[in-house]
Amino acid sequence: MITLTGFGKDYGDFTAVDSIDLQIDAGETFGFIGPNGAGKSTTIRFLATLLRASRGSGVVANCDVMGDPVGVRQAIGYMPDNFGVYDGMRVWEFLDFFAVAYRIGRTQRKQIIDNVLELLDLTHKRNDFVNGLSRGMKQRLCLAKTLVHDPPVLILDEPASGLDPRARVEVKALLKELRKMGKTILISSHILTELADCCTSIGIIERGQLLMHGPIESVYNQIRQNRIVEIQFFSGEEAGMSILRSSPHLRSVENTPTAVVAELETDDEGLAELMEEMIKAGVRMKSFNDRDPTLEDVFMTVTKGLVT
Ligand SMILES: Nc1ncnc2c1ncn2[C@@H]1O[C@H](COP(=O)(O)OP(=O)(O)O)[C@@H](O)[C@H]1O
Ligand SMILES: [Mg+2]
Repeated sequence: MITLTGFGKDYGDFTAVDSIDLQIDAGETFGFIGPNGAGKSTTIRFLATLLRASRGSGVVANCDVMGDPVGVRQAIGYMPDNFGVYDGMRVWEFLDFFAVAYRIGRTQRKQIIDNVLELLDLTHKRNDFVNGLSRGMKQRLCLAKTLVHDPPVLILDEPASGLDPRARVEVKALLKELRKMGKTILISSHILTELADCCTSIGIIERGQLLMHGPIESVYNQIRQNRIVEIQFFSGEEAGMSILRSSPHLRSVENTPTAVVAELETDDEGLAELMEEMIKAGVRMKSFNDRDPTLEDVFMTVTKGLVT
């Protein structure tokens, strides 16, 4: 549904995006993750036909981004990273304004606006002024705006940034809802955990390079050789720690207030052997927990060696 081939962008001498190859299939929710300045918005603006590429090309919903920008605009709902709302406009007028821009007829418009307001739980704000809405509500309204022409593809630039935890949860629930409706979604974030549970695939970008991308499980599996174990000792901590430290698999160990957190380069068998060795040495553990990698772990692993 979205394809980038060798996409790159320079601003003068500065290369913001190097050369990105990426494919996002129909129905995916793709998390585009990377720190500030990584090149997310640059890539997104290109896909939204708002920026000329320095090299490479892109296709969205079978429309070439540079050859058929009008086709792309019909196919996407784009939410920019910072959006302005117009003073003195009411919620329904704001949506109507965009619906008119998409040349949707008057009778159809009313129905669409009702539906979109309902979907985003904004029906009760229908006649409120846009500039009086809370940040979370404005964000939802902006998402509503991207839906008026019922596009198959949504391109959302950091839609959850600056929201309080409750509003973030609501945005995530909405994304799941939109995915169920069959939308293909590209959503960016600089906060890794923000997206973990609503994406089907992710790509990690840093300094204009796409370091890794694919289905979320395969990205997890690629870093699965790095296991993170949380151990709570009951007694014999000293002996336990010395066994850990002498393990050839150990990459790092940290004493947190609640548990010892060890990063080991090993597999299930290696972990079982380590536990066995400790028990044989008389170490007693309350828990030995093989933690699922978080997106933070994924990010730390793939960016290792790149951060100087
Ligand atoms: N119009 C511009 N002119 C010059 N540099 C820019 C411009 N837009 C973005 N950049 C630079 O390109 C890099 C990538 O920016 P951006 O795509 O906005 O990153 P992100 O969205 O991941 O935070 C940054 O270093 C940024 O300063
Ligand atoms: Mg950005």
